[in-house]
Amino acid sequence: MNEQEFIPSEYSELVTSGTTTWKAPSNIALVKYWGKFPDQIPANPSISFTLSNAATTTTVAYERKQKSDGGASFDLLFEGKPKEEFRPKISTFFHRISKYMPFLNEYHLKIDTSNTFPHSSGIASSASGMAALALCLMDIEKRMKPSMGTEYFLKKASFLARLGSGSACRSISGPVVEWGQHKDLSNSSDLVGLPYEGKVHEVFQGYQDTILLVHKGEKTVSSTAGHDLMNNHPFAKPRFAQAHKNLSRLLAVFETGDLQEFIEIVESEALTLHAMMMSSIPYYLLMKPQTLSIIEKLWAYRKQSGLPLCFTLDAGANVHLLYPQKETAKILQFIKNELVAYCENGQYICDQIGGGSEKI
Ligand code: PMV
Repeated sequence: MNEQEFIPSEYSELVTSGTTTWKAPSNIALVKYWGKFPDQIPANPSISFTLSNAATTTTVAYERKQKSDGGASFDLLFEGKPKEEFRPKISTFFHRISKYMPFLNEYHLKIDTSNTFPHSSGIASSASGMAALALCLMDIEKRMKPSMGTEYFLKKASFLARLGSGSACRSISGPVVEWGQHKDLSNSSDLVGLPYEGKVHEVFQGYQDTILLVHKGEKTVSSTAGHDLMNNHPFAKPRFAQAHKNLSRLLAVFETGDLQEFIEIVESEALTLHAMMMSSIPYYLLMKPQTLSIIEKLWAYRKQSGLPLCFTLDAGANVHLLYPQKETAKILQFIKNELVAYCENGQYICDQIGGGSEKI
C-alpha cells in the first residue's frame, strides 16, 4: 500500500449538493502509539479495542461553489453552536488531505458535529471526531465515484482520519484494530488502521471499558507536543522495541484468552506511556493523585477478589477499567463503592467493545 492509491483520478462529474451523516466511535489502545514521524506515520505499531457508546456523530451538508476560490471553505457547529476553537484543526486537516480529495476546493461544507460523551469530559474526541468527518468526506467522494468498493472506502476513510489525528485511523472499523507495520501482522500498514483478522478469544466478546472521569479540564501538554518529545527521547528506541514485543504477546493472548498475560501487557503499556512523559525533557505528568489512588484500589481489589480487572490510560488522567462482560455486576458494585469518590462529580461512562462506524 502507498499514498498514491489514495489520489483519485478525474471525477466524471461533480455533484451539486447533498448531505451525509456518520457516527464513529472512540477507541482505546491496548498497545500504545506514542511517537511519530512526519505525516502522522507512527513510530511503533499499536492495537486497540473499538468502543461502542463514546462516539461522535457528524453531518456534512455540501454545496458546490459558483467559483472555486482555491481551498475548502466550511462552517462549523459543535452541539448546535459555532465553535471557533475547532476551526484551526479542521483547516489544517483539509489542507493535509487536499491532495487526496481535490474536489473539496470546489465545495462549501456545513459541518455539524456532536459527541455522546459530555463536553470537556477529558475524553479525547479527536479520534471519533476525525473518523466521523473522514467518513462523511468519503461519502461525498463516493457519489462522484459510484463504483468505489466498501473495502477501499473504509481504507481511505482511515487514511484520511489518520491525517487528522493519528489514533483516529483506528476508529473506522472494529472490534479490534491494528495500525502500523509489525512482523506478525501480514497486511499491516503505517498508513491505515485495519480490522484485526486473527482469532480473538471469546472471553473478549462484549469486553467492558468503564471510563472513570478523573479530570475534565484541558491537558497541560497536548498529545502533539507529547509525540514530539519522543524525538531524541533517551528511552525512545527501547520503548519502540517494547511495543513491537508487546504486540506479539498480545496476539498470542487473543488466541488463548490468557487474561493474566493480558493484564500484564495492558497495564505495563499504560504505565510505560506515562513513564515516557515523565522521562522526556521537559518532563511532565498527566496523572493526578486520584489516578494513582484508583490504580492502587484496583490492584488491592484484584488481589482480594481474583477477578481479571485491569486498567489502561490514555494521554490524560482518566482511567479506563477493562474486564470481561460476565463480571460486570460485581465490578460495577466495586466501582460504586470504592472508585466513584475519585471521579470528578462522581462521573464515569460505561462502554464496551464495538463494531465500528456506521452511516446514519
Ligand atoms: O491520536 P493522537 O495523536 O491524539 O495520539 C494519541 C495517543 C494515545 O492515545 C496516547 C495512544 C493511542 O495509541 O491511542
